[in-house]
Amino acid sequence: MYDLLSPIAIKLGTQHARRLAALSMKLASVVGTKPPPSALRRTVMGIDFPGPAGLAAGFDKNGRLYPCLSRLGFGFAEIGTVTPEHEPGRSHGLAAVTANLARYRLPHAIPLGISISMNRTSHPDRMAQDYLACLGGIWQFADYITINLGVRAGPDLHLTENRPVLQAVLGAVKSEQARLAVSSGIRRPIVVKVDQARRNAGDALACVLEFAFDGLILGGKGSQQAILSTLEQTARKMPDNTPVISVGGIRTPQDAQDRLRAGAALIQLYSGLLESGPRLVDRINTNC
Ligand SMILES: Cc1cc2nc3c(=O)[nH]c(=O)nc-3n(C[C@H](O)[C@H](O)[C@H](O)COP(=O)(O)O)c2cc1C
Repeated sequence: MYDLLSPIAIKLGTQHARRLAALSMKLASVVGTKPPPSALRRTVMGIDFPGPAGLAAGFDKNGRLYPCLSRLGFGFAEIGTVTPEHEPGRSHGLAAVTANLARYRLPHAIPLGISISMNRTSHPDRMAQDYLACLGGIWQFADYITINLGVRAGPDLHLTENRPVLQAVLGAVKSEQARLAVSSGIRRPIVVKVDQARRNAGDALACVLEFAFDGLILGGKGSQQAILSTLEQTARKMPDNTPVISVGGIRTPQDAQDRLRAGAALIQLYSGLLESGPRLVDRINTNC
């Protein structure tokens, strides 16, 4: 049935395809539990992941789908991106997402990542404050936190294309991580999502290393070969125990296997789920 409907939904647009995939996930999670084989367990950033395949940010913006994902073989999920204020089509806003997470008080059957960003309309002077507001707001709910840099603040300023601004924002995030760890008594790993295709991706990567973030999500577009070779080189540059999470263009178990062999500690899925539905996760788990 999914094979019949998904090409139509994809033609109608990503949001239709996402809704169809989300519905099929909810239905499939009622039918049965498919945990990943125990051989796929791993500890990354001090967190136990039952499997390597997670849901990429943007699919489950506010965590409503999260409770059913562990029953489908996902090893983790990243919800969001969350911004301080509601932004149509991009973020439900910090208050709405935290209210949702607080209401359900979700038992964390699988690790929960929360992706945060700034509002596009925020004044460049307020960029860091936006990230810090989100960090404080979601701190108690997340197992790890992702800094999503993929945002353009005004026509001339993309965060990754201005190294001093990037350094200021990431430096402020690192200080706040340390402060929150002391005040809450809980340390949360923070990873930075960098798009390898973006101009100055190297600067963003340098900042991740400079500030010793806990990990990197490396997004890639283009040929599998190009993505794999950048992944391999990047994974080699990372200090010991600083993981790279690979996202972008993972559509088959072979893609997943290739990313893990190239040095990814974990992988994230989005478009592959629109095309194949939730069984992609199970296929990856049985072939990795
Ligand atoms: C409709 C849509 C919305 C997305 N929203 C977000 C988002 O809010 N935050 C984020 O970090 N990435 C977002 N992404 C990017 C995905 O997380 C992922 O990096 C990207 O789609 C590449 O993976 P894929 O090739 O498997 O689709 C979004 C992608 C799509 C297609």
